[in-house]
Amino acid sequence: MDVVSDFLKITQASETRISEIDMNNIPFGRVFSDHMLVAHCINGEWQQAEIKPYAPLNLTPANSALNYGQSVFEGMKAHKSPEGRPVLFRARENWLRINYSAHRMAMPPIPEEIFMEGIRELVKLDSNWLPNPDQGALYLRPLYFAADEYIGVKASDNYTFVVFTCPVGPYYSEPVNLLVNKDYIRAAIGGTGAAKAAGNYASAMLPDKMAKANGYHNVMWLDARHGEYVEECGTMNIFFVIDGEVVTPRLTGTILPGITRNSCIQLMEANGYKVTARQVSVYELQQAYREGKLEECFGTGTAATVSHVAKIGFGGEEWVLPAVSERKIGPWLYNALMDYRLGAVEDTFGWVELL
Ligand code: COI
Repeated sequence: MDVVSDFLKITQASETRISEIDMNNIPFGRVFSDHMLVAHCINGEWQQAEIKPYAPLNLTPANSALNYGQSVFEGMKAHKSPEGRPVLFRARENWLRINYSAHRMAMPPIPEEIFMEGIRELVKLDSNWLPNPDQGALYLRPLYFAADEYIGVKASDNYTFVVFTCPVGPYYSEPVNLLVNKDYIRAAIGGTGAAKAAGNYASAMLPDKMAKANGYHNVMWLDARHGEYVEECGTMNIFFVIDGEVVTPRLTGTILPGITRNSCIQLMEANGYKVTARQVSVYELQQAYREGKLEECFGTGTAATVSHVAKIGFGGEEWVLPAVSERKIGPWLYNALMDYRLGAVEDTFGWVELL
């Protein structure tokens, strides 16, 4: 065992399971790397975190996260730079966001050094699990949940923070079809939509399953109040190009403030595209489609990176968008973002950290 600092120690796995993965054909999120980070917060006091061999967690059935969903998470990726070094992308933003999510769920903040140093050491230790740039990335899943053994409904006194990692290929292996849902809502003002709370994903699963049964990959959510304004897609934020203008739903407190969303806005603006964050009515999209002005649609997210949207379903209509080969902004943006994520261009935004 190595003691890295008074807040982190490392116990290395005695063997690697890397032969379980074919790096040329990586499934998303099914094979996990050799190590994980685990830290416990007991009655408000963070204990020394440990990086140790990846293994199942020992949970009581009375665990309050399992029973009541007091649980939040993050999605991050490490890439392999052209020189073969691990690259982290805007990792501190994920730390800030998990603590925002935690606050909304009445959970104590995770100390910066446990999150940041823990992730740096974990990625360095499992750097042999980093796919090559053309194969994919190492996905990191910080997960933070209540740990009390108690079935009364109250914020837990104890918490567990875990980070585990897995090599991944693309989340969507083809351009995606999105179904606008008018029957269910994802989030309402005052709710948890802007937090990365486990329950947001659970409540989306029935509509998601229904969309998939109809040939769609994902749901496009509308706002709860008017049932009209586009919000997000659960696995990604959404952008449209309407008659040459890039628009994206503005953050209202019901939409996840995507780090990829923010990076894409900055990248487009720095390259001369005007991006407007505003309310986007589904009827405006319908009109634009009918007039041939809905030129592009793409989703953004850590897992999704920049995913082109092929088709949008709404009220029995199918809006088939131009072929990706005819699009200008989405394909350019994907490459521009990947250049930064891989550490392949000068980091003019201060986004990347080479380990
Ligand atoms: C991500 O993009 O990393 C997410 O967390 C979305 C999804 C895979 C749950």
